[in-house]
Amino acid sequence: MRNLTNILITGGAGFIGSNLVRHIFEKTDFTGRIVNLDVLTYAGNPYSLSDIDKQYGGSRYFFEKADIRNRAAVDAILVKYKIDTVIHLAAESHVDRSITGPEEFITTNINGTFTLLEALRSFWTDFDGKLFHHVSTDEVYGSLGNEGFFTEDTPYDPRSPYSAAKSASDHLVRAYFHTYGLPITLSNCSNNYGPYQFPEKLIPVMIEKMLDEKPLPVYGDGKNIRDWLYVEDHNSAVWTIINDGETGRSYNIGGENEWENIKLVHSLCEIVAKERGKEADYYKKLITYVKDRPGHDRRYAIDCSRMKKELGWKQAFDFEGGLLLTVKWYLENRKWIDTVKSGEYLNWMEKNYDER
Ligand SMILES: NC(=O)c1ccc[n+]([C@@H]2O[C@H](COP(=O)([O-])OP(=O)(O)OC[C@H]3O[C@@H](n4cnc5c(N)ncnc54)[C@H](O)[C@@H]3O)[C@@H](O)[C@H]2O)c1
Repeated sequence: MRNLTNILITGGAGFIGSNLVRHIFEKTDFTGRIVNLDVLTYAGNPYSLSDIDKQYGGSRYFFEKADIRNRAAVDAILVKYKIDTVIHLAAESHVDRSITGPEEFITTNINGTFTLLEALRSFWTDFDGKLFHHVSTDEVYGSLGNEGFFTEDTPYDPRSPYSAAKSASDHLVRAYFHTYGLPITLSNCSNNYGPYQFPEKLIPVMIEKMLDEKPLPVYGDGKNIRDWLYVEDHNSAVWTIINDGETGRSYNIGGENEWENIKLVHSLCEIVAKERGKEADYYKKLITYVKDRPGHDRRYAIDCSRMKKELGWKQAFDFEGGLLLTVKWYLENRKWIDTVKSGEYLNWMEKNYDER
């Protein structure tokens, strides 16, 4: 068990990061400080943590608007908060955007990670009790056929600019462990879903389109398979690694929950219909097959037995339960959706953070 005191979370205003901050404050016995470093791209929304800010802001929770590519800004934050642990999530994360505009993916995901590693290498004068945890994706492993699973030993074979950039960052993180002894751990997880996910990813996109009664776009034949992981299960796994993971080691985190995209969309139609008192066909008839994404990986499936056997972690949510919670959250939290869609959260952010 590590002694964690001052944790820097990069990308803490994003989907997984904001859930992680909330998870640590509400579900663990951590008593130290969390600093959330985020530049607030379109995907970053500090409004997701306004309740946490109200409760812990200025004492145990701190927000720093900064870019991980800016070495001077990163250095200053490390010094100001005496950071001993970093959980690195900041990234450009949307595969479709990486296809239309790959440059930000290279500069943030690769150069940004490099900047953090360099800053830590000079800030931490000894590595005792320190840790840099890098959050990565199963997409680095490429695509599977009908059989088999990704293990931590599967060779990297990225297919999109997003997964190529994440692969490069994973290699850099491991290189800093082998070359400089920087204490690192790494996790590669499957598709997360849950509350606070920006409505450009599959599940919130479908829910929002159903509510707007617009066509539900499904790529190709809809038979691509993803392993779905409830964000709370992902974050309990990350917390387990931070505390008990072996330095230098990688861990796969998955939901052990493979679903074809089309089957998932059907389920969402059924849940939303039930919640809104309609027949499932009311939404199913909106499904529209669209031209496949270039380089669209066919199947991802994670073998997460290392997490289970070595660290005693397991998922707490099944897919049916997690999906129901997620749909209900989107139906009940229209204010969050409206702020994301309207850009109101940017005004909120300016009022709440720029003058601090
Ligand atoms: N969402 C998933 O299903 C999934 C799956 C596997 C791995 N991951 C990884 O988990 C991490 C978080 O994913 P997410 O879905 O929460 O992403 P997200 O897009 O919701 O959030 C990313 C956050 O990083 C911030 N950010 C981007 N560029 C930055 C920069 N240059 N400096 C500082 N902050 C910056 C954004 O403002 C945003 O708040 C990413 O590293 C992603 O690769 C995500």
